[in-house]
Amino acid sequence: MKENEKFVGIIGLGTCVPDTVVTNKDLEKRVDTSDEWIVERTGIKERRIAEPGIATSDLATAAARKALADAGVSADEIDLIIVATATPDMFFPSVACLVQDNLKASKAAAFDLGAGCSGFVYGVVTGTQFIKSGLYKKVLVIGAETLSRILDWTDRNTCVLFGDGAGAVVLGEVADGCGVLGAHLGAEGAGGDLLKLPGGGSRNPSSPETIEGRMHYVHMNGNEVFKFATKIMGEAALEALKNANLTAADVDVLVPHQANIRIIQSAAKRLKMPMDKVIVNVDKYGNTSAASIPIALEEAVRTGRVKKDHVVVLVGFGAGLTWAACVIKWCKEDNTIA
Ligand code: UT7
Repeated sequence: MKENEKFVGIIGLGTCVPDTVVTNKDLEKRVDTSDEWIVERTGIKERRIAEPGIATSDLATAAARKALADAGVSADEIDLIIVATATPDMFFPSVACLVQDNLKASKAAAFDLGAGCSGFVYGVVTGTQFIKSGLYKKVLVIGAETLSRILDWTDRNTCVLFGDGAGAVVLGEVADGCGVLGAHLGAEGAGGDLLKLPGGGSRNPSSPETIEGRMHYVHMNGNEVFKFATKIMGEAALEALKNANLTAADVDVLVPHQANIRIIQSAAKRLKMPMDKVIVNVDKYGNTSAASIPIALEEAVRTGRVKKDHVVVLVGFGAGLTWAACVIKWCKEDNTIA
């Protein structure tokens, strides 16, 4: 331990998922797919879809309010809000600024972070540095998405995979030896074409042609992303563990990005971890991108799967391509989330 080292961890959690459930059977009516195919290839049974009029900042704000209540921290104590999202309400202002206004977190700086589905872990690692450096004391990190708004609901290759939701955490100083012990972030921009939304930006500004070409929707090479994910999830977790001077044998709970049960199983295999140490809720929510890890973590904490003194690894991969992992020694006393 370095002299005067600050330990930073999660002191509150909250989530918000829309009430509307869309089952695989519902999707059978929209595209040429089947419940059997989706369950077998992905593990997904249903997902939540935001009601009309609900945007990413609404889910993010609701999740943030719960995280603040859980932490016993008021909005005006927050120094920084980071929102990881690929589906902001609009290009600008950022979702983080919209949340800052909703919460009346008047002293908080605010910015969005774009790292695809790895964004939440990137955000936790980033927020941690601000507190470790002494610049800030309390940071709100939110992963929030309304993927349903950028899906081509006629494309069975993508529309069955994703869902909407948000998860938030409050970061603050924790007891010595607790909190974020190690991390590993990475990117491989050369793989950017594998998962992208090509239209509406400065390369292809919105026009009748971009709309006609369905460029305002998610485009994905599923097989290649699958190969990348199965390789990187285990490796990223191992790098973060190395950074924390720990090994896979020290891990009590793995909270992986919830994209596909087969990707999660392959990560567990690489880490030689039994599946009972791995949090899985992809069956209920599908892939909620940057929201998937905080939603899974909150469920794990609330249901007692994550306990005090557990070593927890968060690991994700996503568009960019990106990957991110962090190792957390869980020291939160009160695991009762309102
Ligand atoms: O957060 C990161 C986001 N992205 C991901 O995590 C995606 C990673 N990739 C995957 O999870 C998998 O690659 C998929 C679930 C997308 C696809 O599973 P797969 O086992 O790799 O299937 P495939 O792409 O090899 O497709 C097999 C067949 C194809 O038919 P043909 O060409 O063999 O006749 C697809 O057209 O399955 C077909 N298919 C479907 N069939 C029924 C693709 N989507 C569907 C569908 N229902 N929804």
